[in-house]
Amino acid sequence: MIKINENFLKLQASYLFSEIARRVSDFQSENPGKDIIRLGIGDVTCALPLACIDALHKAVDEMADASTFRGYGPEQGYDFLREIIAKEDFQSRGADVAGDEIFVSDGAKCDTGNFQEIFSTDIKVAIPDPVYPVYLDTNVMAGRTGLYNDGRYDGITYMDVTRENRFVPDLPDETVDLIYLCFPNNPTGATITKAQLKKWVDFARQSKAIILYDAAYEAFIRDDSLPRSIYEVEGARDVAIEFRSFSKTAGFTGVRCAYTVVPKSCMAYTASGEEHSVHSLWNRRHTTKFNSVSYPVQRAAEAVYSAEGKAQVQELTDYYLKNAALIREEVSALGYDCVGGENSPYIWIDGNKDSWEFFDLLLKRAGVVCTPGAGFGRCGEGFIRLSAFNNYENVEKAMTRIKDALKV
Ligand code: MLT
Repeated sequence: MIKINENFLKLQASYLFSEIARRVSDFQSENPGKDIIRLGIGDVTCALPLACIDALHKAVDEMADASTFRGYGPEQGYDFLREIIAKEDFQSRGADVAGDEIFVSDGAKCDTGNFQEIFSTDIKVAIPDPVYPVYLDTNVMAGRTGLYNDGRYDGITYMDVTRENRFVPDLPDETVDLIYLCFPNNPTGATITKAQLKKWVDFARQSKAIILYDAAYEAFIRDDSLPRSIYEVEGARDVAIEFRSFSKTAGFTGVRCAYTVVPKSCMAYTASGEEHSVHSLWNRRHTTKFNSVSYPVQRAAEAVYSAEGKAQVQELTDYYLKNAALIREEVSALGYDCVGGENSPYIWIDGNKDSWEFFDLLLKRAGVVCTPGAGFGRCGEGFIRLSAFNNYENVEKAMTRIKDALKV
């Protein structure tokens, strides 16, 4: 008899964004013709930067000619991309990262979800609340938790993220082995200073723990004093893995390209204390289960680092930040407290009411889709998240409709 992985039965009924899509689709069937503005899932809406389009076209032409055609690429990514990433995203900011420490992949969602596989199932995992659900759900699937009780899984060390700690988690008061951090944060849009990040790095070093640092929204940082990479912090190379993505940076959500940095000095241990290279383990996993991102897509990602590419990416992220500023302004004028939206495309709003109720109210009265904070964890209850990834005209329209809806 075929048996299931019963850990899947512990999961909540459906993935957050699938549940939202279902509710929106039900609403649309009941209200055909009603115009919906989506400020829910963080999916980009602007066209790809021209530099990427040109690179894609050129690479497709190469694939059309047997003399320049490419088949399987190196699983870790082509050197042309790994080297330029290391130089532009890290070395240029004084962070010590080499090209062969970069693993190119098809998304930070997959990488942040998959990375836990190389660690033992009996480790102690620290996860912020609220959190991007992928970190938590993949640990549930792997069997690192008990059952779901009162909005939380037994066995996880939850780190409350609240107004009181200015949406940056405090260090846990127990020893943990694996720590998930994300800055600029999804869902709250909050940022972390270098001094705060240093405390986490020191904490991880003391307990031989590893930090999985999700920096997918780094391109939205405008405050130069904020770290863009955890490797700007001394000692991080030994205890941190960093995830980056071209999805939000350069509009690649439908193109698929991301990368993970695994420094060669980062170590993990057997039960008897024997040291092993995390880079070697991840390389083994990656080469077994992944067969590289397509050549045209890697050329498009490389183009992000050309002079034109950099300018176009800046323009793109500035555009979304202008939307974010408008959302912040309008929401604050309505008297709601909010965080994020300054160095991040997400605005985390204290709605002061049940977050699914707020979701339904905005959908039904304003035709605007948000993400209910409770979907990101117990501490998200009472909040909603608005995403700035729609176009400016729609964001303006959405804010007018929200104002009217909340006056009723
Ligand atoms: C979000 O809305 O939180 C993100 O778009 C989800 C993702 O990047 O997978």
